[in-house]
Amino acid sequence: MAELINGTRLLTADAVSPAAEAIAVAAAILRQGGLVAFPTETVYGLGADALNPVAVEGIFRAKGRPADNPLIVHIADLSELSAVAASVPPLAPAVMARFWPGPLTLVLPKTPAVPAIVTAGLATVAVRMPDHPVALALIRAAGTPLAAPSANLSGRPSPTNARHVLDDLAGRIEAVVDSGETGIGLESTVLDLTGEVPLILRPGGLTREDLLTVLPEVHLDPGLSHASVAARSPGVKYKHYAPQAEVVVVEGSVQAIPACVLRLAAEAEQQGRRVGIIATRETSEHYPGKLVMVSGSREAPGTISHNLFTLLRRMDAAGVDLILAEGIADTGLGLAIMNRLRKAAGYRIIEAL
Ligand code: TXA
Ligand code: MG
Repeated sequence: MAELINGTRLLTADAVSPAAEAIAVAAAILRQGGLVAFPTETVYGLGADALNPVAVEGIFRAKGRPADNPLIVHIADLSELSAVAASVPPLAPAVMARFWPGPLTLVLPKTPAVPAIVTAGLATVAVRMPDHPVALALIRAAGTPLAAPSANLSGRPSPTNARHVLDDLAGRIEAVVDSGETGIGLESTVLDLTGEVPLILRPGGLTREDLLTVLPEVHLDPGLSHASVAARSPGVKYKHYAPQAEVVVVEGSVQAIPACVLRLAAEAEQQGRRVGIIATRETSEHYPGKLVMVSGSREAPGTISHNLFTLLRRMDAAGVDLILAEGIADTGLGLAIMNRLRKAAGYRIIEAL
């Protein structure tokens, strides 16, 4: 018997070779229109049968997600694509062949089989093939594509382990499949291939530099550079990834950042606020006596992406009022990391001089 937490079943499955039983239980719930959170290589997703509008409605209810923010449809095999995508733009096959399964979501024209609630009424559907044995096994066992947003309450940091999922959604969903920590730690890159030039609507686990090895040109949605309501990916306009604490990002050179962080920390502490610092390995020793959490190394941004959302949640658990987060270079995976940090900060950014 699986453990029950506030009515939500906690199933465990090995991340490399999941036992058939846990997958079968989870798949049966999905086939009956229930909600199951499951691991992917990016973050945990909250899955429902993508072709069942009543099941998908449950996702929006459980998360408190605005109805105009469309979902990603997850498939396990290329043969499932034609059920959800009406056509495949000329550049798509090479991209799929190179990067699927993987942290890349493609926006494609939708088929009538995809319910309007999945795409928030758009003519396009976002599709991805996740690179995680549990996710792939679950989609296959369910026998249907799975609509799955990140398995957090709307506006909260995305979950990178089953504990995060339960903290937000216990009692609101039928089950969660626990396979430990996710690898990348932030969401997939959303790429729109329906226009003339491929457009990144949301930077994520697959870098723009990687995409440029297959595509001649890749543009960034101009709306990404600031808090724009004109951003084309509907979800991009909402408050996101936010812990309870206020977040301020301190950007600039690695030499200038520590002094600026220390000054802001001192100012806040004078006002009686409890301050936490998210620092990199290279700079963390500049803050003796402070509450410091090390995200990872600037030399290996994958270590930072892996830890970022967990640290935002841990700062809340530590009762911090203000999180001062060090910025990093926004190249490679740094682009997605800085996108999430700036959004978590509500674009409160201070340039260290
Ligand atoms: O890594 C991920 O992508 C995770 C895992 C679970 O796969 N999922 C995820 O889903 O991050 P979610 O719902 O949190 O983010 C989906 C993003 C939103 O920004 C949404 O607006 C965008 O994809 N999106 C979905 N359908 C779209 C469409 N048809 N056109 C443009 N953007 C779309
Ligand atoms: Mg999300």
